Amino acid sequence: MSEETLSNLLHENRRFEPPADLAAAANVKADAYAAAEADPEGFWAQAAERLTWDQKWDRVLDWDNPPFAKWFVGGRINAAYNCVDRHVEAGRGDRVAIHWVGEPLEDARDLTYAELKDEVCKAANALTELGVRTGDRVAIYMPMIPEAVIAMLACARIGAPHTVVFGGFSAEALASRIEDCEAKVVVTSDGGYRRGAPSPLKPAVDEARAISAKSGHAVEKVLVVRRTGQDVDWDDAVDVWWHDTVDTASAEHTPEAFDAEHPLFVMYTSGTTGKPKGILHTTGGYLVGTSWTHYEVFDLKPETDVYWCSADIGWITGHSYIVYGPLANGATEVLYEGTPDFPERGRWWDIIEQHKVTIFYTAPTAIRSFMKQGREIPDSKDLSSLRLLGSVGEPINPEAYIWYREVIGGGRTPVVDTWWQTETGMILISPLPGVTAGKPGSAMKPLPGVGAEVVNDEGVPVPNGHGGYLVLTQPWPAMLRTIWGDDQRYVDTYWARFKDQGYYFAGDGAKKDEDGDLWLLGRVDDVMNVSGHRLSTTEIESALVSHPYVAESAVVGATDPDTGQAVVAYVILREEATKTLGEDGGEGIAKVLSDHVRKEIGPIAKPRQIMIVPELPKTRSGKIMRRLLRDVAEHREVGDVTTLADSTIMDLISAGQARSTDD
Ligand code: WT7
Repeated sequence: MSEETLSNLLHENRRFEPPADLAAAANVKADAYAAAEADPEGFWAQAAERLTWDQKWDRVLDWDNPPFAKWFVGGRINAAYNCVDRHVEAGRGDRVAIHWVGEPLEDARDLTYAELKDEVCKAANALTELGVRTGDRVAIYMPMIPEAVIAMLACARIGAPHTVVFGGFSAEALASRIEDCEAKVVVTSDGGYRRGAPSPLKPAVDEARAISAKSGHAVEKVLVVRRTGQDVDWDDAVDVWWHDTVDTASAEHTPEAFDAEHPLFVMYTSGTTGKPKGILHTTGGYLVGTSWTHYEVFDLKPETDVYWCSADIGWITGHSYIVYGPLANGATEVLYEGTPDFPERGRWWDIIEQHKVTIFYTAPTAIRSFMKQGREIPDSKDLSSLRLLGSVGEPINPEAYIWYREVIGGGRTPVVDTWWQTETGMILISPLPGVTAGKPGSAMKPLPGVGAEVVNDEGVPVPNGHGGYLVLTQPWPAMLRTIWGDDQRYVDTYWARFKDQGYYFAGDGAKKDEDGDLWLLGRVDDVMNVSGHRLSTTEIESALVSHPYVAESAVVGATDPDTGQAVVAYVILREEATKTLGEDGGEGIAKVLSDHVRKEIGPIAKPRQIMIVPELPKTRSGKIMRRLLRDVAEHREVGDVTTLADSTIMDLISAGQARSTDD
């Protein structure tokens, strides 16, 4: 973000006070800040009391061996029991847990808590029958259908950590995750609906299984939901239908209590190197952190609210704020399979109108795309049920915030801009809807019980009005425990930068305004944020150089009006390739290379532009200066080139022609 935009932002002086009725009845009031500060462990213990434990903890936090935390030490708990059974036992079995909305207009299914309990129990029995034991990993590669949630909860119920892989990832990306966590079973479906057409998933699982087999890892079973009815290849030794195994299993299943630190799931996310990191979350602290913040930040009133989070369960937002947080709170929620604009652009608003959604949580990139379509579409729907709006994934620009509040929220609803990460598991920085006067574009303050600061290079907090690095100054219950199989990478990535202070380094830049409120400014490392999805520059670079035409590549995230950032790739072709294709690679080169990235990682990683260049700007020590490439990609005058080994290179690059990959 440029200095100019930044100073404009910080002179934002619109303020939105919480509505009086919301403030009066808010789940969490202003006194929570002081209470949490006076006794952080007591505060989290109180949040933990909201759950049902088989055995209570002896100690809230063990931070004797930082950065390896243990929360609710000695406690025993079952996450699925907390998300399902206990609501049924409390007499709320008839409450709808999930209003599922399929993409085809005629597809819909409501599941009450009692029905969800039966389904989860059956799936738990079926997984056990397939040989899954406590501690075994299960990969889930599915569309947004109820079975995806059921599969996750069934894994949690039997203590088998799941790893959900976003359905938009390729077979290669799926295989690398299956191998890294050595998944024994994969749960998938024949396909899902995407823009009106069935889109296959099972073939990618078949391919991933073949790739993993070559590297010596055998997936034992693949459990397949029939969703679209499309043709699938079948291997009788491995593949089993969900309707043959789960539907016929017993609905009786006694949940076992696991240690609070028992692994709940591994969620892969991109880091600054090519290899995705398996972020490990454990059971007790994660469930406390997600259920508490869901109650606190969204002011959830489970008896009356209808909640909808539009994320995909393949991302952390889906784990924390579709599955574990809301269901642990006994919420009624919408789960939607498809895209926002099918069969027409008002689909999301129709869903809000139909189900009388009261709390809606989405990403700025979606809001910006609706802004482009114009307010006529949402204006023609009845959105008066909404009382609270949330935003996540990237900084929300004030313009989008105001549009969201006015057009979608009818000017009544607070907007909570929630900052967090795959690693943090739960929201850490956000306004409290009944307490905080919102400023468009600011995530405001750390939540009660959370320690966040903005520090300079030396780890010293900056004064108000200044910027620096966002750090977290104390442990929190839903924090990641490690990177799966790589404790050293965990220490190096998050805790080495400010080792002396013992701070967690989030990788984000931030600024404190004159009031001390926080403005998130995006990543300070080689991680991009495209439509709220995290992508690593190095991962895309490795994908590009794995193509036979490519000698070298550098990838940057360039500011994009729709997606926040977009992938721009600079590519040096191999000499052999230019002999046949020509120096500039010829007309079709951008498409060939971008299809290759799609295949290696998935459609989300596809570059917006590919520039064929003769050289890359490097320092004398050989480090690519991405800052200069960003200048070119964002059409700025190229900055300081004095540290370049060859300062004429930037002229060559700037003169080159950008090729869009849209064709
Ligand atoms: C990165 C984490 C948290 C779930 C979705 C993304 C950026 C996230 C905000 C926000 C500004 C935000 C940060 C963060 N980010 N929320 N409200 N304002 N930036 O999870 O893929 O782990 O990415 O997303 O850069 O580090 P993720």
